[in-house]
Amino acid sequence: MNAVQVIAVAGGRGGCGKTNVAVNLALALAALGRQTMILDADLTLANAHLLLGLVAKRTIADVLCGTCSVEQAMLTHKRKNVRLLPGASGDLSMANLSVAQQAGLIHAVSEISESLDVLIIDTAAGISETTLKFVQASRQILVVITDEPASIKGAYILIKLLSRNYGVTHFHIVTNMTRSLHEGRALFARLVQITDRFLSVVLDYLGDLPFDEKVRSAAQKYQCVFEAYPKSNCAITYQKLAQKIDRWPLPAYPRAHLEFFGDRLLTAPLEQLAS
Ligand SMILES: Nc1ncnc2c1ncn2[C@@H]1O[C@H](COP(=O)(O)OP(=O)(O)OP(=O)(O)O)[C@@H](O)[C@H]1O
Ligand SMILES: [Mg+2]
Repeated sequence: MNAVQVIAVAGGRGGCGKTNVAVNLALALAALGRQTMILDADLTLANAHLLLGLVAKRTIADVLCGTCSVEQAMLTHKRKNVRLLPGASGDLSMANLSVAQQAGLIHAVSEISESLDVLIIDTAAGISETTLKFVQASRQILVVITDEPASIKGAYILIKLLSRNYGVTHFHIVTNMTRSLHEGRALFARLVQITDRFLSVVLDYLGDLPFDEKVRSAAQKYQCVFEAYPKSNCAITYQKLAQKIDRWPLPAYPRAHLEFFGDRLLTAPLEQLAS
């Protein structure tokens, strides 16, 4: 079993582009030949399937009830190396999972038999305990920000909670819906200025996604921009971001706390020794 790169896509504010970032990156990484899976961890208003043109018959809610396995709920995109574990919609009991449910889901996803290189987690808006737990259980964390005070403030609060209460200190920042690269860089610099002053965290700038009308046009066709408009500014940027992500080192050892695919890291060195 290979190590899996697990990436949580979070944001300090609703509507900053998390789902688009998660889905487009999954497709862009798949285009590089990676086996990717999206976990739609928006458990009350799931919508990642809509950008993939998929119909979610079974969801994480069914997995948690024990009525189906992760494999049975999983959907495959027409690009075969992209899979989706759909989130639930309209079920308020999913708004706050118990600690046992959170752990159960992390274990169930980590035990899938399918081969996988990258798991991308699309998180829900806001800072629920479930969202923070899923982020903590991921090796890499992308925080999406837009050029609005509420977005910067929300991202700061998210980073503060994750660093102080969940031991997460390294974040990759993506600026979204900007009018220029300069605007994106300035936005990143503003966030760093605040975090450097009050928190002990490291922020890396992954890149800037321009505002692009094609994103909405693609969604209207039940597709994401990377698939519908591969030559658009946004799609080309996603390709570049995926190339950067693809060079990130894979985790080599399990962490102390519960994490997605942590158990695979216990067995990986033994397999390497035996080969
Ligand atoms: N780069 C972009 N250019 C133009 N529009 C964009 C871009 N990225 C996202 N959008 C638009 O912003 C809106 C919100 O995007 P998305 O659903 O991905 O955000 P979200 O953070 O997942 O939202 P929520 O918090 O509700 O889950 C959508 O209408 C989407 O089309
Ligand atoms: Mg979303």
